[in-house]
This record gives sequence, structure tokens and C-alpha cells, in this order.
Amino acid sequence: MRPATPETYDHLTDKHFAAIVAVIETRVGIKLPQTKRTMVEGRLRKRVRALGLSGLAAYGAHLFEHGGLDGELVQLIDCVTTNKTDFFREPSHFEFLRDVAVPQLAQRQGPGPLNLKLWSAACSSGAEAYTAAMVLQDLVNAGRAKAGKELRFSILGTDISTEVLREARAAIYPRAFAAPVPAPMQQRYLMRSKDAQLDLVRVAPELRRRVRFEHLNLMDDSYPFDRDVDVILCRNVLIYFDKPTQAAVLARLVSHLRPGGYLMLGHSESMAGSGVAGLKSVVPTIYQAFPEALGRSAA
Ligand SMILES: C[S@@+](CC[C@H](N)C(=O)[O-])C[C@H]1O[C@@H](n2cnc3c(N)ncnc32)[C@H](O)[C@@H]1O
Repeated sequence: MRPATPETYDHLTDKHFAAIVAVIETRVGIKLPQTKRTMVEGRLRKRVRALGLSGLAAYGAHLFEHGGLDGELVQLIDCVTTNKTDFFREPSHFEFLRDVAVPQLAQRQGPGPLNLKLWSAACSSGAEAYTAAMVLQDLVNAGRAKAGKELRFSILGTDISTEVLREARAAIYPRAFAAPVPAPMQQRYLMRSKDAQLDLVRVAPELRRRVRFEHLNLMDDSYPFDRDVDVILCRNVLIYFDKPTQAAVLARLVSHLRPGGYLMLGHSESMAGSGVAGLKSVVPTIYQAFPEALGRSAA
């Protein structure tokens, strides 16, 4: 017989679980089916300990019967969101950025340097934004934005989870997590911690200067960011939303793309981009904003 642990007897009540499901679906857009209940309970146990409560039933009562929900919402969202990410995840997107998007955007733009704006929407702990920064900084170093242009770039990373945003701003990762970064780029852009025991790396200041992170809930009615973004990566988050939410999020994101700008979706959610007004498919998972449909001039 297995020994009794807190997991064996400490559970949310059905009523509290249903209330959490409703809050997360309304505020974050994410569905939490019954199959996720064990995962949710496991993650919330750290909040039970942090708040000094007796268990998950007390946590549910704290949220829904003692008025604690508003004060706890940020932590609740942090606990239930799935933040899996990697450097160079779905690497074909970064090859496309380097080989197709940058040269084409340089060609489209008038004279002067190409000031490229990239947005990692749902950036998690920052690996996606810093991967793009490494790829773009390599182009800057090689002096080739194509079409004879100088390249400058800035990157915005946004996420709903305050916890991952903290990690993204710190830009410190276990060395093993940075393994997908090609060795020459590791040498150029990742600094080893002085204390070898720690086995951590930190993204170089040269890249950190070009990347900023902001809090954003993709469910919000509008996004307070630039509307002339060249490349938006929105990967591996739409999959958690239902179809109407996916369509609404994509319509809002597209309104932030400059004509000719690119939208990249995760490989498992590529179909979400089909049929979105103002977008045409370029290759699977990559879409381009075309000016005619956006009703704007390409100039
Ligand atoms: C699985 S990670 C994907 C990270 C990265 N884009 C990638 O592909 O590696 C999904 C991220 O979406 C964020 N997220 C979930 N719902 C969100 C929402 N409503 N608004 C903004 N970000 C959200 C989560 O906090 C999480 O960091």
C-alpha cells in the first residue's frame, strides 16, 4: 500500500474547481478540462503553502468565500498557465526570419536603415525573444540586412504570467536549457556565471538592450503597442483557446502588423491563421499581412 501523502487526501472541492475553471476561461481564455485537475491541484499546493493555509479546500474557500480572488488572481494565473518554451524552438521560423523576412522587409522599405520591430506575443520566460535577438544580431554583425541596408532591431516580449516575465527580464537560464543555442552563438551571446557550481548562463547585455518585456493578456480588447510591427511570433498559445477566441486574438494581432509584415504561429496551431482577414499564407505556419485587405497603403 502506498503511504498517504498530501496529494492523497488534499483536493479542491468540485465547486471550487468549477469556479477556478470559469475564472481562468473568462480571464485568460484557457480551458481546463477535468483531465487537468490533478495538474492544477499539484501546482496550487505551492500557493496553499505560501499562504499558510490548511489545504486546497481552504484555498478554494479563500478565493471564493472570503473575497481572496482579486488579490490572488495573478498567482492563480501563474500557476495554471503552461510555460514550456525553448531556445530555437521550431527553428524553421528563425531560418525564415533570417533568409526571407529580413531581406524582403528591407526591400519593401524605402531608403535608410531597416528598423525591424519583432513581437514575441506569449513569450514565456524569454527564450523565443532572445533567439530572435541572436539571429538578428548575427545579421547586424555580418552587416547584411540585404538590399544594401543597415539593420537595426527592437524586440517586445509579452505574456500574461508575471512569473515568466520576471525570468525573461533576468535573462538567466540553466546552461542545459540553453543547449539548443548553436555553439558559436553561445560564445557570442551567452555569458557563463562566474560561480561554475551554478551552471547558469545569462544573455549578453548587447541583446538584452534590444529586448523589452511587458505584461499583456491576449484576451484584452486592445493591445497598447505599436501598429507597425514587422514580425509577430504567436506560438503555442492559441492551442489553449477556443476557436472564437483564437480568431479574435489573431484579428487584433494582425492590426499591429505593418503591410508586408509576417505572423508566425506554432506548428500545431497553424490552421488558426487560415481565413483571417488581411493575412495570406506564405508557408505552413507563416502568414503575411497584405495591404489591400488591411485597407492601408503599402507606402
Ligand atoms: C507554451 S508557452 C509558449 C511560449 C513560446 N511562445 C514558445 O512557443 O516557446 C505559452 C505562453 O502563453 C502564455 N499565455 C497563456 N494565456 C495567455 C493570455 N491570455 N495572454 C497572454 N499570454 C498567455 C503563458 O503564460 C505561456 O507563457
